[in-house]
Amino acid sequence: MKALRIVRAVGLEGLELQELPDPVPAPAQLLVRVRASGLNRADLLQARGLYPAPPGSPPDILGLEFAGEVVAVGSSVQRHRVGDKVMGIVGGGAHAQLLVIEESEALLVPQGMPFEQAAALPEAFLTAFDALVLQGGLAQGEHVLIHAVGSGVGTAAVQLVHALGATPIGTARTPQKLEQIRQLLGLRHGIACPEGPRFADQVLELTGRKGAELALDLAGGDYLPQTVRAMAVQGRILLVGLLAGARAQLDLGLLLSKRLRLTGTVLRSRPGHEKAALAEAARAQLLPLFAQGRLRPLLDSSHPAEQARPALERLQANLTLGKVTLTWP
Ligand SMILES: NC(=O)c1ccc[n+]([C@@H]2O[C@H](COP(=O)([O-])OP(=O)(O)OC[C@H]3O[C@@H](n4cnc5c(N)ncnc54)[C@H](OP(=O)(O)O)[C@@H]3O)[C@@H](O)[C@H]2O)c1
Repeated sequence: MKALRIVRAVGLEGLELQELPDPVPAPAQLLVRVRASGLNRADLLQARGLYPAPPGSPPDILGLEFAGEVVAVGSSVQRHRVGDKVMGIVGGGAHAQLLVIEESEALLVPQGMPFEQAAALPEAFLTAFDALVLQGGLAQGEHVLIHAVGSGVGTAAVQLVHALGATPIGTARTPQKLEQIRQLLGLRHGIACPEGPRFADQVLELTGRKGAELALDLAGGDYLPQTVRAMAVQGRILLVGLLAGARAQLDLGLLLSKRLRLTGTVLRSRPGHEKAALAEAARAQLLPLFAQGRLRPLLDSSHPAEQARPALERLQANLTLGKVTLTWP
């Protein structure tokens, strides 16, 4: 099979499309012919040797999410059969013509959704769903602050918040992205932060001085102190990404007096049974919203696998709105 391999961990110039041996499914795994795979910031880090794949995943093939067809099943597989259209998150190896996934972690592609769009779904929507709903307890009528709202996860979160009857407030450094998200996803409250994170006063104004009940923080760094200021009493902050940095100076007094909860979370390094539990929750609560047409992956662009490097460069340059996928022959 062809796969996007890290030949030298020096960045995007160290990636090559190479011929590698086909993977073989273990008893509880599916072998999938990948039709499309989704790009992630983690790919950029891993290409530089900074975010290694967890044990059990291919260490040198990039790619965390995919959509494709089942071409073989392990001896103990029960839920799936050859020909099923599936998608999912893997610890690595998704930018390839073939991959293996635990059947407990595979999801069926929503009816009628093209592969290049389905490959944009798992990482963004499962991350947003897990953080906002399962961990954050998102409730109807709440205000939800979402940073880097034009990102893959951000554009998924806006839709999820709308679908569950709450109000998103998005921040982005690029004002044009806010305008596009207003048009494409109906985001009413967008706060542009082209000169750094200054949004707390606006959030307080938009919420009648109450503050946001929930925050999906994909930025961390200097965004976090402002986020703490922008929260309502007993607000919940889900720290999911560190786009703006891994260090922050916080007013801990505010954290106490507002009785805030700050939760850090990551999907990739979770043990198998937790990944399977998330997939099960997504089957029950998240995927029906796609079937009802209330959610859809926002696709920035899709590129043939041979164009992986320029596609990753586009992501790296922060030019994307929503997700980028690769298509595999
Ligand atoms: N914890 C987990 O399990 C998990 C899972 C998935 C993703 N993540 C993380 O979540 C974040 C978003 O991922 P994604 O794939 O959705 O991102 P993405 O689609 O690549 O979009 C990221 C956007 O963030 C903005 N950005 C970049 N640098 C920034 C900075 N220094 N400060 C503020 N905004 C910045 C850029 O837009 P502008 O230039 O317009 O600001 C960029 O387009 C990443 O950090 C990723 O690693 C975590």
